[in-house]
Amino acid sequence: MSENAILEVDGKRYEFPVLRGTENEIAIDLKTLRSVTNGIITLDPGYKNTGACKSAITFLDGEKGILRYRGYSIESLAEKSNFLEVAYLVIFGELPTAAQFKKFDDDIKAHSLLNEEMKNIINGFPKVAHPMGMLSSLTSALTAFNPITVNVHSEKDLYNAIVKLLAKFPVLAAWAHSVNQGTPLNYADNSLDYVSNIMQMMFEIPTTKYVINPIAVKALDQLLILHEDHEQNCSTSTVRIVGSSEAGLFASISAGVSALWGRLHGGANQAVIEMLEAIQKDGGDVDKFILKAKDPNDPFRLMGFGHRVYKNFDPRAKIIKAAADELLAELNINDPALKIAKHLEEVALKDEYFVSRKLYPNVDFYSGIIYKALGIPSEMFTVMFAIGRLPGWIAQWKEMRLGGEPIGRPRQLYVGHTERDFKAIETRK
Ligand code: SDX
Repeated sequence: MSENAILEVDGKRYEFPVLRGTENEIAIDLKTLRSVTNGIITLDPGYKNTGACKSAITFLDGEKGILRYRGYSIESLAEKSNFLEVAYLVIFGELPTAAQFKKFDDDIKAHSLLNEEMKNIINGFPKVAHPMGMLSSLTSALTAFNPITVNVHSEKDLYNAIVKLLAKFPVLAAWAHSVNQGTPLNYADNSLDYVSNIMQMMFEIPTTKYVINPIAVKALDQLLILHEDHEQNCSTSTVRIVGSSEAGLFASISAGVSALWGRLHGGANQAVIEMLEAIQKDGGDVDKFILKAKDPNDPFRLMGFGHRVYKNFDPRAKIIKAAADELLAELNINDPALKIAKHLEEVALKDEYFVSRKLYPNVDFYSGIIYKALGIPSEMFTVMFAIGRLPGWIAQWKEMRLGGEPIGRPRQLYVGHTERDFKAIETRK
């Protein structure tokens, strides 16, 4: 294969290097395009065809439905590992030894207490505030208590910032839930593992000891593993571009939380359960909603379906669907929403509209069924997604900063007015 790509514009030919990744993906290196062509740029709304960076963290193949973190398949990690061990892998590049994992876990626990003054901030939110808005604000507010910007070239400083964030983020998430529920703010319990602690902080109330259910913890732990990273998705790209201005880690992650909130991205898991419950309330006529989803004049979309990259089954959706079945059976829950979801999937995957557009269930289609079975309210579903995605955001921010990437600053094709003279207000019509 030629190692150069040829571009011909206005009779002039330009050559650009062709790069090949470790999974034989091919990219044209256009770093010099604007300078060698005297100003020509590419235009690619939504960056559907544009690589923003090289990365060694996650590989996914949307056509084959493959997803691997640092070379390990999502299926093997979901089956054999745990959330915190996978977080170590995603962030530091290797599965930890027993000693490395114990130190990582201990160091996170050492930072699980929030400054009491953070309560002044969270108590300023109304009960009805969306927890994603609270989480984004509180994550940024962590900077106030850790004002020194991370020296990324100090391994110790960077490690400390990482374990601090991994420790405090779930506490902030649980606090946002408590504000919505009107219950007291809980502290972390360092005698518990990471995921059990999340559930304890969310559900413990002073009058009743929260009993940890190992079945529930295992289901949540696996679900969070499936969310840990997903290469250059909207919120991760946000974290990378905010961090590229040398904004701090907490500020960059706060921006990622805001990007994830959108219903086309992480907010879809809340939108899916609301859609399933609306279909159930409307009498369960799945065909009616499939027609709405196909109608170009109807803004209704089949939430949890379709994906920018997966044009085959989202491998995470397959695992989550099986886990949802297993958990509801183990907890003896009969949730009509699961039946409607399966029926929707069955009808859609036989319908030419969805088949021709390669629209399959994505990670958000079934995850809400599990969160609901664990007693988590739908407003908190995207917060759970953020807790799961935090290690990936951290890993990608670290890779970008240590890789010395330039500040992100895309160009544009200007289509506005050409130069015109100023008009005095009296002359304007
Ligand atoms: C996540 O990028 C990631 O990796 C994200 C994520 C991660 O882990 O970080 O995987 C998490 O965000 C998953 C996606 C969650 N969002 C949803 O479930 C919302 C519903 N899905 C869609 O809005 C849509 O599929 C997107 C936003 C996910 C992808 O949109 P694209 O790639 O821009 O595709 P498109 O909007 O151009 O759609 C192509 C066609 C269009 O029809 P035509 O114009 O060709 O006639 O497919 C149609 C769309 O109208 N279409 C849908 C549809 N999704 C796409 N039609 C009905 N229902 C849908 N869900």
